[in-house]
Amino acid sequence: MKHILITGGAGFIGSNFIPYFLEKYENYFLVNLDLLTYAGNLENLEEVENHNRYKFVKGDILNRELLEYLFSEYKFFAVIHFAAESHVDNSILNPHTFIETNVNGTHNLIDIAYKFWKDKSIDGRFHQISTDEVYGSLGKTGLFTENTPYAPNSPYSASKAGSDMVVRSYHHTYGMDTVITNCSNNYGEKQHDEKLIPVIIRNALQGNPIPIYGDGKNVRDWLYVLDHCKGIDLAFHKGRAGETYNIGGRNERENIYIATMICEILDQKVPKESSYKKQITYVTDRLGHDRRYAIDATKIEKELGWSADENFESGIIKTVEWYLKKYAK
Ligand SMILES: NC(=O)c1ccc[n+]([C@@H]2O[C@H](COP(=O)([O-])OP(=O)(O)OC[C@H]3O[C@@H](n4cnc5c(N)ncnc54)[C@H](O)[C@@H]3O)[C@@H](O)[C@H]2O)c1
Repeated sequence: MKHILITGGAGFIGSNFIPYFLEKYENYFLVNLDLLTYAGNLENLEEVENHNRYKFVKGDILNRELLEYLFSEYKFFAVIHFAAESHVDNSILNPHTFIETNVNGTHNLIDIAYKFWKDKSIDGRFHQISTDEVYGSLGKTGLFTENTPYAPNSPYSASKAGSDMVVRSYHHTYGMDTVITNCSNNYGEKQHDEKLIPVIIRNALQGNPIPIYGDGKNVRDWLYVLDHCKGIDLAFHKGRAGETYNIGGRNERENIYIATMICEILDQKVPKESSYKKQITYVTDRLGHDRRYAIDATKIEKELGWSADENFESGIIKTVEWYLKKYAK
């Protein structure tokens, strides 16, 4: 049995990743270390809570003692690091927590992993889960490649860029086996209510205005969360040490398109007198709002054979159906 430390596994992507990984690999034991901030939710992991190859530990990646204990207890051969503060709007209100968790927390974690693996002569792998937002904002054309210079614009993306740089430095300086994946916007089941797609669905159902920032024409490259998990799986197992892989669905959509599409799905599934589209309301733009993100995923496609399985039209319907059940409770 090989033990892997998963951090932040009670969040959106981690709680999709853990059941997928447990089912696919019978020789892995997963320890999920999560602080259960407002963003972590153990209900999202009910399906695995009694799994004999899974253990949940409530704790902070900033807690050195706890991490040292976990490494000596489980002798991890790898870390897959999801834990982060992840909401851009919160980072604008409170950048400090983002620097603490994302930069200092990542440094703490990789430093302990490095020292433990060096002492025990273990060739461990540290996989950093990151975002396309580190590359800044695109104009109407162009795509982010792995060679695009980092140019983060929000405290969130700056803190993720900082944590990626720490990981890069541990590879370059100490020869540690690291891999970084930078993914575009994820959508799917189990995302926190604060994020765009759940916000649209919830406000629509409650009869509230559906808030859309600015002119609604900001573009994001949407990827179904399980396709991201499959990309992480490939990069974790087959990615070259010290490399970065971009993951994105070649699926660019304006925010207003997403809102309109979800309203049309709701018009069919939960019809009412007037269309949900009438509730769409433009609100003051987010400070420093990046205009467009879009990923060139050629490297992971060609080198590791990754491609997205889910098509956006069917993925978004599955997602809306999941939230309809959740909000009906
Ligand atoms: N959601 C996206 O679209 C997206 C896209 C690309 C990359 N990412 C990255 O993927 C990772 C996961 O994103 P997500 O959307 O699942 O985030 P999330 O906010 O849903 O989950 C983050 C998890 O980390 C935990 N956490 C926070 N601080 C912690 C700490 N100090 N110690 C231990 N656990 C802590 C939280 O309790 C939560 O369970 C993040 O690193 C994020 O930057 C997200």
